[in-house]
Amino acid sequence: SLETVYVQQWLERKVTQALCEAFGEEVKDVNPMVAIASKPEFGDYQCNVAMSLSKKVGMKPRDVADKLLQRLHPLLQDVFEQPEIAGPGFLNLRLRKDYIGGRISRMTEDGERLGIPKTGNPKRVIVDFSSPNIAKEMHVGHLRSTIIGDTLCRLEEFLGHDVLRLNHVGDWGTQFGMLITYLREKGFTAEKGLGDLQIGDLVNFYKQAKARFDEDEAFQTASRKEVVALQAGDATSLSGWSILCEASRKEFQVVYDMLNVRLEERGESFYNNMLSDVISGLKEIELLKESEGARVVYVDGYKNKDGDPMPFLVQKSDGGYLYSTTDLAAIRHRVQKEKADRILYVTDAGQSTHFDQARCIARQAGWVPSHVSLEHVPFGLVQGEDGKKFKTRSGDTVKLRDLLDEAIVRASKDLRERLEADNKETERTARIVGLAAVKYADLSMNRESNYRFSYDKMLALSGNTAPYMLYAFARINGIRRKIGSEIKLDSSCKIILDHPAEMFLARHLVYLPELLLDVEKSLYPHRLCEYIFELSQRFNQFYENCPVANAPSEEEKKSRLALCSATANTLQLVLNLLGIDTVERL
Ligand code: ARG
Repeated sequence: SLETVYVQQWLERKVTQALCEAFGEEVKDVNPMVAIASKPEFGDYQCNVAMSLSKKVGMKPRDVADKLLQRLHPLLQDVFEQPEIAGPGFLNLRLRKDYIGGRISRMTEDGERLGIPKTGNPKRVIVDFSSPNIAKEMHVGHLRSTIIGDTLCRLEEFLGHDVLRLNHVGDWGTQFGMLITYLREKGFTAEKGLGDLQIGDLVNFYKQAKARFDEDEAFQTASRKEVVALQAGDATSLSGWSILCEASRKEFQVVYDMLNVRLEERGESFYNNMLSDVISGLKEIELLKESEGARVVYVDGYKNKDGDPMPFLVQKSDGGYLYSTTDLAAIRHRVQKEKADRILYVTDAGQSTHFDQARCIARQAGWVPSHVSLEHVPFGLVQGEDGKKFKTRSGDTVKLRDLLDEAIVRASKDLRERLEADNKETERTARIVGLAAVKYADLSMNRESNYRFSYDKMLALSGNTAPYMLYAFARINGIRRKIGSEIKLDSSCKIILDHPAEMFLARHLVYLPELLLDVEKSLYPHRLCEYIFELSQRFNQFYENCPVANAPSEEEKKSRLALCSATANTLQLVLNLLGIDTVERL
């Protein structure tokens, strides 16, 4: 039945049930101590609860194990062989061959979800990701956030949760004072708007404005007044502001379209009218403190480098609000209005303290009920191939659009050389491969470490790379198409797992649902990459040892074909979770 596909979780429930039957309801909260077996000799899972329970029930561990086993076996027998007791009282559990076979035929039949049901308990999940800043360059850090965040959204969506993908763009900082002042200086007015003024290259525009700001005191004064005017809702200021936002938005969208990432823009400005409530809310519960004219909150346990309590600044002495204030308002809004159960923030590791403090304050203020989790999903830096800061040869920041284009150009060159073909199809494939390479290189690294950006490495045909995985998919899919065209696979098809290589492959295939839950919890997408890399290797072993087209019998041919098919479907599903399109040929 469907509920066994998350084997470990199912097993935990069954152990708890058996414990209660054997020792009474008072053990129902005992940790069932189920884990993946540490060695293949021990089977697939092990249960170590007998040791931890022994004292509580006043029996020797081995006797606890015996008693548990009697109750457990009948509950498990469709899925597991008779459990074995080892050593002082470990229970070793091995999956039944026919259970694994049944799961495989289900996977061939349900190519889209591979027999994985949607959750019966959907949660409202908000993923705050990408979030570049208006009029500034969208940099490689934002690229990481976009790619990792999108995968987490896809995973939660696949599992059946209700996901809100929020782009918390920086559209309300003090930089707008300077930018709008410069716009005005260049001839922008309320009546004629931009006129002939071109701001296509916003980053350059930003640089020029900054230069003016730095050189001219009158310009600085005007800029400060401009911020006040903007925040007070002055119509001209607002129209300048929205022109700037619109120009940035267009540039960001080019990148999102290339990456095929969907986001809902809800920038800092959205929370503007909720900021004063944050301050009064904090004041009411006496969390708000004064420090040198500014308003701050102190969170227990946070010290700055001199060892003094570290302030979390929520209002400047001139009355202005900050990034931090906005994040507190956003938490309230997301919990109260959006009814979030889980909020994920995908940003660089440098912002960890900020999010920790914001979470503590929001909890202390009673804005976040205990069932709601706020999780920062930090990631490391993208570095150049030399391990230094990532930049162009001339030392500028790399434009993401150029970076993605370059990956496509290189993929296309590789393809044309290898396939000696050059047509529409090659160009389409190159685009898929190039973008896949950038995404996969990022996602296959443990997100918390820094990684070096290297086109050569990410485009290599061997190793844990996108081209290798896409190639593996195309090949396996090709085998299935070629051999399987006249064979119909359905759930009645018997899966034979007599060869160790067949079993080795099948065992990994049925692990997928548990892996997905693991990634949902740990938020480590690289485990998905490790999983499919291992899968393709197990498939190769199988294919070397177990002929498919020339299998010894029709029955085995069908069974092996089903293994090919389940493997191809699995690769496709996981690549899809990684935001990667597959190709038929490579
Ligand atoms: N705009 C910020 C940056 O570029 C990221 C925002 C992350 N989200 C948030 N709710 N603070 O670093």
